[in-house]
Amino acid sequence: MSLLPILEYPHPRLRNVAGAVEAERIADPAFQRLLDDMFETMYEAPGIGLAATQVDTHERFMVIDVTEGRDQPLAFINPVIREASADLRVHQEGCLSIPGVFADVTRPDGIVVAAFDRNGKPFEMRVDGLLATCVQHEIDHLDGKLFIDYLSPLKRDRAIKKLEKLRKQG
Ligand code: NI
Repeated sequence: MSLLPILEYPHPRLRNVAGAVEAERIADPAFQRLLDDMFETMYEAPGIGLAATQVDTHERFMVIDVTEGRDQPLAFINPVIREASADLRVHQEGCLSIPGVFADVTRPDGIVVAAFDRNGKPFEMRVDGLLATCVQHEIDHLDGKLFIDYLSPLKRDRAIKKLEKLRKQG
């Protein structure tokens, strides 16, 4: 396994809209290796989710593990949100592509997500709380969207200035 470079804001390819993963590609050893590398990269960062877009692969899949024990890896291939609750949840989000920047984002608290697992098997999951936030954040990446897009212009400016300052400090 190996660590993958993560694209950072404002890299233009973070704005790409990813295409579907073709069914026959899932069993491809190169695809399986890419999934393993994405898990390793996410755990090492450390982060709770990583979308293919962030490692410059423009196909619809992502890896997530929101557990404290870091022992429940979830791969979502061609994920689709089927239902979203009217109840909302505010979470202070961060992103491996915008390191050091955190801001409150409001999203549906509960969702039903359908996807394929790494064996190509379809599944549907009803999730809420942090996992629901994370799934929505990662699917946004596949659509070229970043969490700072949800902020007011003022807060977004502040977040970007903070990122620039952190970069200058190295
Ligand atoms: Ni992110």
